[in-house]
Amino acid sequence: MRVDATVQDGQNIAVRCRGVTKTYGAGPSAVKALRGVDLDVERGELLMLVGPSGCGKTTLISVVAGVLNRDGGECEVLGEDFARIGPAATTRFRARNVGFVFQAFNLIPTLTVAENVAVPLLINGVSRREAIAKAAEVLSRVGLGDRTNDVPTRLSGGQQQRVAISRALVHDPKLIVCDEPTSALDHATGQRVMELLREVAEGHDLSLVVVTHDARIFEFADRIAEMDDGRIVRLSTGQSHKKAEHELPVVK
Ligand SMILES: Nc1ncnc2c1ncn2[C@@H]1O[C@H](COP(=O)(O)OP(=O)(O)O)[C@@H](O)[C@H]1O
Ligand SMILES: [Mg+2]
Repeated sequence: MRVDATVQDGQNIAVRCRGVTKTYGAGPSAVKALRGVDLDVERGELLMLVGPSGCGKTTLISVVAGVLNRDGGECEVLGEDFARIGPAATTRFRARNVGFVFQAFNLIPTLTVAENVAVPLLINGVSRREAIAKAAEVLSRVGLGDRTNDVPTRLSGGQQQRVAISRALVHDPKLIVCDEPTSALDHATGQRVMELLREVAEGHDLSLVVVTHDARIFEFADRIAEMDDGRIVRLSTGQSHKKAEHELPVVK
């Protein structure tokens, strides 16, 4: 069975977390956000991360994306351990390999749509001309080819989320994490955004971790990981067409 083989040989694992912990603050007001997270994300899969508000979803994807340091446990992302390579190498690694889609889009209002999308390329030292050209290419793929010179505030929520996704994709990352990407969108727009994410992941060896509260988008998941109180408590097969035959037990 594919899933078991994958877990054993480790070759097809994009993200491997074991016993990951994270506490905010210290003393009596300390919040244990992650209490020992065990999770594998396969290469090429779309894993949804669900669970009640405050259970640690945003903290976990921030650790996985390399924007937040864990306190303990092990975490390897595309073969790298951010705690071992240090902050400067982590920043470089992230700029090359990881895309982040925020709940609130986080577009820069003073830049045009194309300039927003070009940001990750500019960070990677790509020339402005080349970066804008690549940004325009990705934007036309998501149906926004005619909006490249607009400012983001002139776009609808769904269009802004497509810009945010384009920005997460433009540098061909191997991992994209999305924090509740459809929560600000109506149902139809949310479905289109998820279709777009699925489509870009297809055939690109791209792994997606999508945090969501939105049961209407579960159909797009290969697997669904449920979190509660800082841990993964259940892992089940999703409803996507890539459906695996068996459930994968949570690693103990
Ligand atoms: N920067 C922070 N400082 C202190 N506590 C935080 C911070 N970020 C999150 N928390 C707390 O950590 C817990 C997990 O938060 P979070 O990862 O945002 O959960 P979720 O995304 O599942 O809602 C919550 O109790 C939250 O209040
Ligand atoms: Mg959150």
